[in-house]
Amino acid sequence: MTLLRLIHVLSAIFWVGSTLFITFFLEPTVQALGAEGGRFMQRLTGGRLSPAMALAGLLTIASGLWMYASVSGGFDLGVMFAARLPLTLGALAGITSLLVGLLVQGRASRQLKALGQRLAAQGGPPTPEQAARLAALQHTLRRGGQLNVLLMILAVVGMVTG
Ligand code: HEM
Repeated sequence: MTLLRLIHVLSAIFWVGSTLFITFFLEPTVQALGAEGGRFMQRLTGGRLSPAMALAGLLTIASGLWMYASVSGGFDLGVMFAARLPLTLGALAGITSLLVGLLVQGRASRQLKALGQRLAAQGGPPTPEQAARLAALQHTLRRGGQLNVLLMILAVVGMVTG
């Protein structure tokens, strides 16, 4: 249980910390830099950051589920929705956050990477359609990040109170 808690908290620190840093510091700077910022973001999300964050999220949830099975008496509904209700709600927020990360953010990152490769191959500035697509994908990443910040805060509140 101590080892699981250590894995859980360490991976959660990385996952939540990276999300907060990206949402509150990196994204506003990237936006202020315009086209240069867009290129930087493509490079960053197309590199090791997205897999590292996905791995940290998966480790957090897997170790959390493992501990949860034990503290909820083997998923006993009476424990889950009574004595450990805050923990259960926090866990649900954490799982939703991982789903948003994998399905919304992950998909947008992959599309951004593919578009970046097409742009590099064609050379020259993006067409108006490509520029609009770039802006839309960056908007999706930003919104997903903001939603994840909210879900992660709810998860932490549930974890420490429940
Ligand atoms: C964003 C996601 C999450 C974050 C940031 C997070 C964070 C934390 C932290 C900081 C603790 C230590 C709390 C303390 O010792 O007071 C903790 C404990 C715990 N977490 Fe999470 N967690 C997350 C997701 C989950 C999920 C999805 C589950 C289960 C499905 C889960 C299950 C647990 C359990 C069972 C404990 C131990 C509770 C106990 O010892 O009574 N966590 N979590």
